[in-house]
Amino acid sequence: MDSEANRETPDVESVVAILGQSATTLIQIISRHALDQDISLFLVGGVIRDLLLGRQNLDLDFVLESDASAFAHSLAGEFGGSVHMHPPFATAKWILDATAAANLRHSPGLTEAQIDFATAREETYPSPAALPRVIPSTIDRDLARRDFSINALALQLSPAAFRGRLVDPHGGRADLESGIIRVLHDRSFIDDPTRVFRAMRLASRLDFTIDAQTEALLHAAAPTISRLSGDRIRHEFQLILSEHAPELTVVDLESCGAFVAIDNAWLISDHLSEFFARCRKLRPPWQHSDYDLTTLYWHLLMVELPAEGVNALCDRLSLTRKLGESVASFARKLNMIDDLRDPTLLPSQITRLLDDASDMALHALWICAFDLPIVKQRIETFVDRWRNTRPRTDGNDLIRLGLQPGPRFREILERLRDAWIDGVIESEDEERELLHELLKDTSA
Ligand code: CTP
Repeated sequence: MDSEANRETPDVESVVAILGQSATTLIQIISRHALDQDISLFLVGGVIRDLLLGRQNLDLDFVLESDASAFAHSLAGEFGGSVHMHPPFATAKWILDATAAANLRHSPGLTEAQIDFATAREETYPSPAALPRVIPSTIDRDLARRDFSINALALQLSPAAFRGRLVDPHGGRADLESGIIRVLHDRSFIDDPTRVFRAMRLASRLDFTIDAQTEALLHAAAPTISRLSGDRIRHEFQLILSEHAPELTVVDLESCGAFVAIDNAWLISDHLSEFFARCRKLRPPWQHSDYDLTTLYWHLLMVELPAEGVNALCDRLSLTRKLGESVASFARKLNMIDDLRDPTLLPSQITRLLDDASDMALHALWICAFDLPIVKQRIETFVDRWRNTRPRTDGNDLIRLGLQPGPRFREILERLRDAWIDGVIESEDEERELLHELLKDTSA
């Protein structure tokens, strides 16, 4: 960050302008700690890419050409906080707490910050798509194992003689200037098919173009996505769905064959872009609290799957049980969307169709039905009124009247509820009258 050391490196003022004062101070303190120990330390990856683009990124990744965990422990020893190590990857996380934040004169925003340190390493892949084996190495080799030229950048912070040097062995800076995503070698996507998702996510976020050769390699490797675990695929989707406008990436991924590689019945709706855009622009009248947009997108990703296929896909992606059940209930409701348009349906019949859907499933259905006013209106009234309508009579009342719990018992309560929902009865007296009639039928 010393401007005189390398005219291409961002100077301290511009780093402060992009990252903010507290992150900059933190980087300076960590650099000072490395300088004092004459350790070779670099800030690497996304944060450098984004600094050069003038974009804020507070995900600080440091690489050392020495033992990362010893360095993280020595920082924690001086400033406080704790260290979590991950020996297989020679990485260590320094987790700041209130003491560390105070010692670092840190802003409250970064009190919970986790700072990643890694020993520079080389990786070998025991088999395609497997997790890599790791051995300690140099910064150049560490950068050579990375995904794209624009991510294979490092800014040296220590020792003093090299402070401010931008390490850019793969033309990352030039690619940043030309707006290009390029892999470093031909096996990149085969070694790690999650890079297919990453390339498309990054291209869409930065409005960059995927270089032609990289694109050909990406298309060739897309079928190998099938070898990735459900957890890794889900994680990549989660990152994509957290982007500002994920539909562009989703459409690109489908056209390269990523979806069928995961499940050969998985197609994306032609209306997906419109649905996703509606999710951001429109909110159903009943949704007052904050809801998770990515959860809503998950539902809409599965619009084209037959309801029976949804469970298998949710299992494949190891979605949480709650999300899997919600997506499955949405798929069932979507199959009923034509029924829900039938003008002769009674409110109680609509209620029965919608009753077991989760809030998110109803929200997703409302998004899909936005240009079907009758369906949209019915979903809104269901949530607002019908869903919560209950007769005054309950099970205890029926027991007191001599009925045993069982199917008939349930049927009577449902008939009373239906009558309220359909406006057939409007008072407790009317409910009592109807109950008497139903009980007469039962005893007959
Ligand atoms: N990386 C890689 N291959 C992967 C994942 C990560 O080479 N499959 C490298 C890249 O150099 C990347 C760095 O590890 O820059 C950090 O990864 P991550 O934090 O996931 O990515 P960022 O580039 O910081 O991207 P984002 O801004 O989306 O967090």
